[in-house]
Amino acid sequence: MNYSSLKGKNAIVTGAGKGIGRAIAKRIASEGALTAVHYSKSAESAKQVVDEIKQAGGDAFSIKADIRSVAEIKILFQKLSQEFKSHSGSNHLDILINNAGVSSSSVSFETVTEEDFDNVFNTNIKGLFFVTQTALPLLNDNAHIINISSLTARGAKPLYSAYAASKAAVNSFTLSMAQMLGKRKISVNAIMPGFIETDFTKKLLVDPEIMKTLIAGVAFGKVGQPEDIANAVALLLSKDAGWITGQIIEVTGGTNL
Ligand SMILES: NC(=O)c1ccc[n+]([C@@H]2O[C@H](COP(=O)([O-])OP(=O)(O)OC[C@H]3O[C@@H](n4cnc5c(N)ncnc54)[C@H](OP(=O)(O)O)[C@@H]3O)[C@@H](O)[C@H]2O)c1
Repeated sequence: MNYSSLKGKNAIVTGAGKGIGRAIAKRIASEGALTAVHYSKSAESAKQVVDEIKQAGGDAFSIKADIRSVAEIKILFQKLSQEFKSHSGSNHLDILINNAGVSSSSVSFETVTEEDFDNVFNTNIKGLFFVTQTALPLLNDNAHIINISSLTARGAKPLYSAYAASKAAVNSFTLSMAQMLGKRKISVNAIMPGFIETDFTKKLLVDPEIMKTLIAGVAFGKVGQPEDIANAVALLLSKDAGWITGQIIEVTGGTNL
């Protein structure tokens, strides 16, 4: 379904050069939003996403920042404000999709290093926290914030202990922001994707045994695609979702029910 409800809206999707962020950026741009395609390392892919959006009749630009650095986040929003102004005449922000994230490079609790732990927390929660804080002055009343969390935040996940803890922090932060920004009618929700086929998960997907185990836990019997998450984002941005805030929603094809 195309809601066509985002015309005149300014949006940013963090980590939108690839994977889930790319699908979200393309989806919301197709609904009419002027979309900032944020990236850190994937400059070429981000440019390609912008080109694809423009070819499809939408409007977008790419913008760089390493969200582990608060100084870079501040510069990001200064530039974002200028870009929005020059593209749409207004520097307001209507849609913030906090998608950028990393997993821990070690799955075993015993071998997680300080560097690895810091990278996961500095990206997944510190970065998301300060992106949201820095976005606040630009955010319109009635704006939407959607945080991309993870199903790993729910229940025991010993193989992903640092990553899961960082996403549990995202869920907690989502509730605090929903409460705080409710008076401005800004909705704040989180989506917890299940297993989605992206660069993030490709190491696991090449192992047929892991794939078999993963699929066995999914009611729909397959792993998800980035577009499955983009569809859920579009739902939350639709007018009919106007009374939904402070929710942490599983979008998993029915995983581990
Ligand atoms: N795939 C899954 O199964 C799954 C499941 C649950 C939740 N998620 C969540 O979904 C989100 C997207 O994941 P994905 O699967 O699409 O992974 P992905 O393809 O690896 O994309 C991760 C994105 O995060 C950005 N990023 C990483 N570190 C950054 C930093 N320091 N500063 C700015 N941007 C940074 C990357 O940008 P650059 O490439 O430009 O550096 C990239 O666009 C993540 O938050 C992840 O935790 C994924």
